[in-house]
Amino acid sequence: MPSSPPTATSLPSIVAPGPLPAAGREGKDAALVQAMFDRVAPRYDLANAALSFGQDAHWRRVTAQAARPADGVVLDVAAGPGNVAVELVAQGASEVVALDLSYNMLAEGARRGHERIRWVNGDAQQLPFPDASFDAVTISFGLRNVPDPQRALREFSRVTRPGGRVVVCEFANPTSPAFRAVYRRYLVGALPQVARVVSSSAPAYRYLADSILAWPDRAAIARWVEEAGYREVLVKDLAFGIVAVHRGFRR
Ligand SMILES: C[S@@+](CC[C@H](N)C(=O)[O-])C[C@H]1O[C@@H](n2cnc3c(N)ncnc32)[C@H](O)[C@@H]1O
Repeated sequence: MPSSPPTATSLPSIVAPGPLPAAGREGKDAALVQAMFDRVAPRYDLANAALSFGQDAHWRRVTAQAARPADGVVLDVAAGPGNVAVELVAQGASEVVALDLSYNMLAEGARRGHERIRWVNGDAQQLPFPDASFDAVTISFGLRNVPDPQRALREFSRVTRPGGRVVVCEFANPTSPAFRAVYRRYLVGALPQVARVVSSSAPAYRYLADSILAWPDRAAIARWVEEAGYREVLVKDLAFGIVAVHRGFRR
């Protein structure tokens, strides 16, 4: 069992171990992304459920299962209000560290008060943890928002113990061309309209559509995961390929 990450019960409920990233370094502006998620935090869960037709809880459950968290110490990166972290605990993780760039997202989660979850305000590209600290690292609907996703994956690999798991759950392009066309129409047409009703920030959901359309395909993500230091990378498609879950083992 690896050593525990640097958390302490005497610290405030959200820990910020280092400075957060400067704006605008690698194309995607980390500070703008952070501000955007700070704004959507209050109605984040409601918007997700509405926009995914209630499927999002299932996607996160599959993500947590793929990490095989039982009795392990798991890092959930880009944790938001901790939906995957809660699943990881429910599935038996001994401790979950939920890390996110957005303080408001973490505050939403911390307010709900889950034992065995530590909240850390930090950047996926510069993890404030020693090498090989975790049995598994998960990220759901987060990697797409990181300015340099390959750098983040290398960080995940650094903090995963040899043999430990990484699980990346992210939006993808549906595999059927006919369904892909319908889905694209939903993304650029209906989704921003629905978001206007259920979310605290409609522009955030235009960004969501754009970032999904610009995201590389599942084969490219699998290659990134391998190049970061993981082996036996497998991809599981969910919801006709709207979502892809990549899983690998640390070499
Ligand atoms: C769509 S939410 C996903 C939240 C959660 N994982 C879930 O499945 O509901 C994306 C999250 O990524 C976080 N994020 C974006 N860039 C990040 C970075 N560089 N480091 C850590 N978190 C980041 C945002 O603050 C936001 O909470």
